[in-house]
Amino acid sequence: MSLLALVDAVKESALADLKTAADLSALEQTKGSYLGVDGRFTTLLKQLGTLPKEEKPAAGKAVNAAKMAIEAALANRRSELELKAALPKEPTDFTLPGRPRFLGRLHPLTQVTDDIVRAFRKLGFAVADGPEIEDEYHCFDALNTPADHPARDAQDTFFASENARSTSANPVGDHLPLLRTHTSSVQIRVMKSQPPPIRIIIPGRVYRRDNADATHNPTFHQIEGLYVDRDVTMGDLKGTVEAVFKELLGGDTRLRFRPHYFSYTEPSLEIDFTNPLVKKLGKDWLEIAGCGMVHPQVFENVGYDPEVWSGWAFGFGIERIAMLRYGITDIRLFYENDLRFLNQF
Ligand code: DAH
Repeated sequence: MSLLALVDAVKESALADLKTAADLSALEQTKGSYLGVDGRFTTLLKQLGTLPKEEKPAAGKAVNAAKMAIEAALANRRSELELKAALPKEPTDFTLPGRPRFLGRLHPLTQVTDDIVRAFRKLGFAVADGPEIEDEYHCFDALNTPADHPARDAQDTFFASENARSTSANPVGDHLPLLRTHTSSVQIRVMKSQPPPIRIIIPGRVYRRDNADATHNPTFHQIEGLYVDRDVTMGDLKGTVEAVFKELLGGDTRLRFRPHYFSYTEPSLEIDFTNPLVKKLGKDWLEIAGCGMVHPQVFENVGYDPEVWSGWAFGFGIERIAMLRYGITDIRLFYENDLRFLNQF
């Protein structure tokens, strides 16, 4: 028999044996008997060298093709046998009940925030955002609250160390970095970045050096509103806030505006509201927000002409609304991540 015919015969025999190997160890034995040091195919390979020169190229080609075929058959059978070995020995019982997946849900504060945002969107407000690591300029100075202003003492503040000053990853500006005490800082950022008119709300987390108790937490959430255009009036402010609170807390909600002081608004007001939920708590009114007409100095600070532009702003706490809506009496429940609490919403 010629070498070529032999190669072919050994190949066919190898393919047949590999195909019928019953398990992985039988497969390894079969492999050895063909491709091992003394294997049948290896022996043929050695004979290649004895061929006359002119027969070598054709024979070499045939041997290579045969070897590739054997190796492919080997890999193929190996993966079949590996799969078989990995399958369970016992048949699977497909009638067993499945494991139910635990479905998460939105945090109650997120739900309330979403509702507030939806209510303002209907009135044409867009959502704006700003950094939680702020600086004194945006948090206080630009809001007409200079360093020696008494209102600044009232906001116990988390200052970052001098070393934490701005980097490219955290561009807080030239001023001492701090955790923002209110979302009002974003008013400045937005007004500095675009010309009027402006109609935005800013939901976000804020930080104060408060001790946690049933109604305080060092971090909580606010929604800020800012409306700037020509001829904006306090009537617009009242109408807007009233529409949103009625939508959030029910049509029987009533608002009351009390004179107050904020350095970035003039005049400034606090908003109280009442509805049957408030009465149920044994209260007549609950304070809910601060607001007012944007102070001309704030417009100057951001480069708006106060003779041309007018506006109002407000800020209120989200937790307060959520507590009222769901009848929650301890603010700390929101932050404990206790599923027994969170699953109720
Ligand atoms: N920044 C105030 C606070 O945290 C709330 C506030 C009051 C926001 C009046 C305003 C405003 O935009 O006009 O208590």
